[in-house]
Amino acid sequence: MSLIVILTGAGISAESGVESFRDEGGIWSRYDYREVATPEGFAANPTLVHEFYNDRRAQMQTVGPNAAHFALARLEQEFDGEVLTITQNIDDLHERAGTKNLVHMHGELGKALCVRCNTRLAWKDQLSMFDHCPNCGHTGCLRPDVVWFGESPYHMDIIEEALARASLYLSIGTSGNVYPAAMFVEEAARSGAHTVELNLEPSEISHQFNRTIKGPATEIVPRFVDTILAAGKR
Ligand code: APR
Repeated sequence: MSLIVILTGAGISAESGVESFRDEGGIWSRYDYREVATPEGFAANPTLVHEFYNDRRAQMQTVGPNAAHFALARLEQEFDGEVLTITQNIDDLHERAGTKNLVHMHGELGKALCVRCNTRLAWKDQLSMFDHCPNCGHTGCLRPDVVWFGESPYHMDIIEEALARASLYLSIGTSGNVYPAAMFVEEAARSGAHTVELNLEPSEISHQFNRTIKGPATEIVPRFVDTILAAGKR
């Protein structure tokens, strides 16, 4: 059975109103990632890190999935084969659009992780050092369940297994700056997959793809999904 593996990044959520990281005026032009997105930054100033993610968690509740998220959910439902969506995004817009076979390799804004007992908790509100873990009862041990720079991405076993048997690999709205996600195209190509990048502009790693389609995700993703589904029906 054929398998489509999709990697998404901040660009797919941009038109929903979620800021990306490296575009002009993006998050990393206003914040030092070492202060808000590393274990060392959290150890040095947990309140600053909690505030950063609290703002983003609050923002997530004001935005909704866009046409690109919905198109990928439709692809999963209608494709005559398997579809795995891997997202680097910590928002929940793929699942709110209806995607089911999804892995969050950089974690989820909507979860907290207890560093004492390793429990994962659904967390929709503000998080602070005054909160306590309902499992172990300690206070000051909850962090956002997101993968910071220097930490290992989640679900790599599922991802590696899928890349090894992918027939089509799509990369959507990601700058190709962050590893290991930036290496997935090479791995998929090595397994014989056709590789396509869909992005607003060519990324750092565009040359590694068989094809690059340029444009806003809400336009190019639904069109590309239509093409795949139509080819399946012929
Ligand atoms: N449609 C399609 N692509 C877009 C759109 C859009 N409307 N808007 C922006 N893009 C593209 C940009 O051209 C850019 O190549 O999306 C990409 C966004 O890149 P980044 O901001 O670097 O985001 P991403 O690749 O997801 O970052 C990877 O870096 O900081 C970490 O953990 C964070 O998961 C994140 C990782």
